[in-house]
Amino acid sequence: MAKPKVFLCARLPVAAEEFLADRARLEIHRGKGYISRRALMLAVRTAEGLIPTVANLVDSELMDAAPRLRVIANYGVGYDNIDTDAAAARGLPVTNTPGVLTETTADLAWTLVMASARRVGEGDRLVRSGRWEGWQPTQMLGQDIHGRTLGILGMGRIGAAMARRARGFGMKILYHDIKRLSVRAERVAGMRYASLQGLLKRSDFVSVHTPLTGNTHHLIGAGELRLMKPTAILVNTSRGPVVDEKALAAALKGGRIAAAGLDVFEREPAVEPALRKLENVVLLPHLGSASVETRTAMGLLAAKNCLAALAGRKPPNLVNSETWRGRRK
Ligand code: DGY
Repeated sequence: MAKPKVFLCARLPVAAEEFLADRARLEIHRGKGYISRRALMLAVRTAEGLIPTVANLVDSELMDAAPRLRVIANYGVGYDNIDTDAAAARGLPVTNTPGVLTETTADLAWTLVMASARRVGEGDRLVRSGRWEGWQPTQMLGQDIHGRTLGILGMGRIGAAMARRARGFGMKILYHDIKRLSVRAERVAGMRYASLQGLLKRSDFVSVHTPLTGNTHHLIGAGELRLMKPTAILVNTSRGPVVDEKALAAALKGGRIAAAGLDVFEREPAVEPALRKLENVVLLPHLGSASVETRTAMGLLAAKNCLAALAGRKPPNLVNSETWRGRRK
């Protein structure tokens, strides 16, 4: 039987590419930057499977340019880059890669908590500049993390992994989500539910873990930043547009909050110029899931999702289940 044709929008870790190459006719965008829209429109004309990343917009126009397409297997847990309604309207299954990146992304969010609280970026820049004049009792003082209050916005898998880390640091934990956990689950996890406003007012650290949807776009804007303590630190490892970058830059510049740690941006790879000028923000290039093990696991999972759908089997991580109703499992 002829192998199905799969288009990969970016290079993946080698084990994942090899796994796919053994089972599909693989075409890969091998260029350095993102694939252009024009090239992607051309590439999907003959593709049966598509593996996009967070950087590739998969909208109705692209789907219409792909008459043979049978599955969109996102390389990533967040799939706000894909118009899932348009896919459902065309009977196209969409999958993602949950679970495998939870701990790695929480590790990175924790890195940002620590780096922004303890001024790691500033310290590194000082040492490299050659202008460090030696140890001083009052030099570059940061904030303690242990014993403080962490506010987690979005209590999904990664939010819960953050709570586990916070417990190790003896922190008080607040969370806000559209769905509240049971009282028992809250007790077991050692967390308290708070309204969005309550969480912003009471937390020393606010870590964002919500998916990007119509409801979470600019969830943190000027008004929300005004509610935070002047000593508070904001960390975002979810999606850039959940935080209004211009409002954040103004709050950081005006000392309305103390610091921030960002791994994601509104218009990646562009970064709000005002943020790049500030010392009190740590900026990372969307590294949340970027460990060898995790990016490989994501690739294998995306590949398995893609190949399952192409073989007529229900993919393990189907996000628009309506496309599978009535089909055999
Ligand atoms: C995810 O999986 O959503 C990561 O942010 C990579 O896109």
